[in-house]
Amino acid sequence: MSDTKPARASWSGKWAFILAAAASAVGLGNLWRFPYLAAKYGGGTFLLVYVVLVFTFGVSLLLLEIALGRYTGQSAIGAFKAFGKKYAFIGIFASAIPFIITCYYCVIGGWVAKYAASYIAGASSQIAGAPADFFTGFITSPVESFIWMYLFMAAVMLVVGLGVKKGIEKSNLVMMPLLILLAVGIAVFTLTMPGALDGAAYYLVPDFSKLAPETFIAALGQMFFSMSLAMGIMITYGSYVDKQTSLTASAGRIAGFDIGVSLLAGLTIVPGAFVALGSAEAVAENSGPSLMFVILPTVFDQMGGMGAIIGLLFFVLVLFAALTSAISLAETMVSIIMDGARWSRKKAIIAVTVFLFAVGTVVNLGYNGFSFLEPLGAGSSILDLFDFVSNSVMMPIAALMTCIFVGWVVKPRDLELEIKRSSKFVAEKAWVAIIKYIAPVLIVIILVAYVAAQFGFFSM
Ligand code: PFF
Repeated sequence: MSDTKPARASWSGKWAFILAAAASAVGLGNLWRFPYLAAKYGGGTFLLVYVVLVFTFGVSLLLLEIALGRYTGQSAIGAFKAFGKKYAFIGIFASAIPFIITCYYCVIGGWVAKYAASYIAGASSQIAGAPADFFTGFITSPVESFIWMYLFMAAVMLVVGLGVKKGIEKSNLVMMPLLILLAVGIAVFTLTMPGALDGAAYYLVPDFSKLAPETFIAALGQMFFSMSLAMGIMITYGSYVDKQTSLTASAGRIAGFDIGVSLLAGLTIVPGAFVALGSAEAVAENSGPSLMFVILPTVFDQMGGMGAIIGLLFFVLVLFAALTSAISLAETMVSIIMDGARWSRKKAIIAVTVFLFAVGTVVNLGYNGFSFLEPLGAGSSILDLFDFVSNSVMMPIAALMTCIFVGWVVKPRDLELEIKRSSKFVAEKAWVAIIKYIAPVLIVIILVAYVAAQFGFFSM
């Protein structure tokens, strides 16, 4: 089918594709979200559940999206439409998700940029002196927090505007290896702190008495977000892959990259928090979105002279990861508008910039001017609402529709052949079983559970 389509942009090689997909996947999800979820849901227990889910369910969905992209030679909307106009709505639904995520992703990107800049300016002990006040003071600031968000957005849109094809591939080649190096170095350094190994034990050794439905639910939601699944990105990226590149090996490597960085981030942050707070219980209690911004500065401070440098390197690392992911999100929005509205790239970039600026401003206002709005209950913010709607509601629905579509409507046969064009497919039967039966059932469970938890039927 794709052979009859007009020539399409393509990656310059197998590794360019793997790096670009990994750069999209590795982001705030790995460095900011994964460690606090691991700390909250029982350390080693969460880790085990997560690893199993990624290498069964996650890799299968990733393979499905890449194969669907390469088979149809189209990005999300076109890929579904290729099987009939009436299926385009699945692609449209999935394509709406980056429009929600990017707006709040840039708000957090602004926080990270502020922290990186503060550490560069030598403010590490000032932050560590009153970390909670520093964080709250900053995110609620009526001017400064907006400026950092706009700066982050400007950097993202600048790269997208420069033409991401060459820009992305080249910058990934520099940023990704550096990112891995920094992550390993900081983990090793943190683990040499007195008491850190006890924290590492909590993080690594599963305690099966902690296994609860919430562990699975949280792990599954995290997996979608972290692997950039169920929002059309991997379909688009797959459509640029040549017919010789092994899809199975690529999916395995992308997942390996993603989970590797999550594991390392957890191995740095959970033991670090353990040192600062003294016990597993305290770590679990204090873990939440502010773990990175409030607890970590204290940990860096306890490292003595090296702390200011380690803190600086750490926030630069997080900034790199956030930028590469945000660039992939913004690029996806641009290509959706270009495909959907038949606009030029320039016009699409202007539209995305205006949209991000406007909606990002509203999300950020949730921490000051609009802080009276608590859409998900006391203490919640507009950002929490955006996160909930995209991650917990829309992504599972998009993944469910994709699995049912491939598993039951068009049947997996064509995609199996597509995968086998470029490699052996040893796990073919297991893959089909996951797509047709296991994934849809699991997704329905998380969807119902997430929504139930949100309305207070049980706590997560
Ligand atoms: N996977 C990214 C992360 O873990 O931070 C977030 C993300 C990037 C989600 C790109 C979706 C996406 F399309």
